[in-house]
Amino acid sequence: MSPAQQRALAALLPRFGLPYAAAPLDLDRVFGRAAPRILEIGCGMGETTAQIALAAPGLDFIGIEVHAPGVGSLLKRIEELALANVRVIQHDAVAVVADMIPPASLAGIHVFFPDPWPKKRHHKRRLLQPAFVRELALRLAPGGYLHVATDWEEYAQQILATLAAEPLLENPADGFAPRPAYRPLTKFEARGLKLGHGVWDVVFRRRPG
Ligand SMILES: C[S@@+](CC[C@H](N)C(=O)[O-])C[C@H]1O[C@@H](n2cnc3c(N)ncnc32)[C@H](O)[C@@H]1O
Repeated sequence: MSPAQQRALAALLPRFGLPYAAAPLDLDRVFGRAAPRILEIGCGMGETTAQIALAAPGLDFIGIEVHAPGVGSLLKRIEELALANVRVIQHDAVAVVADMIPPASLAGIHVFFPDPWPKKRHHKRRLLQPAFVRELALRLAPGGYLHVATDWEEYAQQILATLAAEPLLENPADGFAPRPAYRPLTKFEARGLKLGHGVWDVVFRRRPG
């Protein structure tokens, strides 16, 4: 971890971090207002999180990340950009979703470039399994969206099939979706696209009612 990330973690986690607790969050209290909320799982170094939050001041964002340097880096961006609409939880996303995110409380969920675990014997470690997708769908308000992007084609196909098999969700697109304008191209992704590598976006909505 860089000294700057370490400093950010120590000084800013108490301000912009939410400690893990086995109790549902009162999100209106956390953000001091009522607004649509987006959960991001695995925000990495937080470039995309910060960019999206900066462009959408009317939305509140909760980023979950386990990797301490990533959390430090996102905290630094929150301070530098004076983002009032982002909070960070440094904990396992599966536990956070189960214990802290109230049912039907989210307008959207972002999962950008989840670890692909390419080896077959590691597929069970992939985040987007049917049971977790069900938990995510239950946290969406009716009409809320679950957006996953990956550059690993076989995982993309698996994600598409897993979301399609969840009865609470529907796919407004025919298969994969075009990249929504709010998701910026990362440097890594732009380089990959030049080399002819693909990126697949999967965007489903929670059924109304
Ligand atoms: C391949 S990186 C992508 C990071 C970022 N979304 C991006 O697009 O650059 C996947 C991230 O997910 C995080 N992650 C994986 N499993 C997680 C979990 N169960 N809870 C929270 N974060 C997790 C990893 O620490 C890593 O930072």
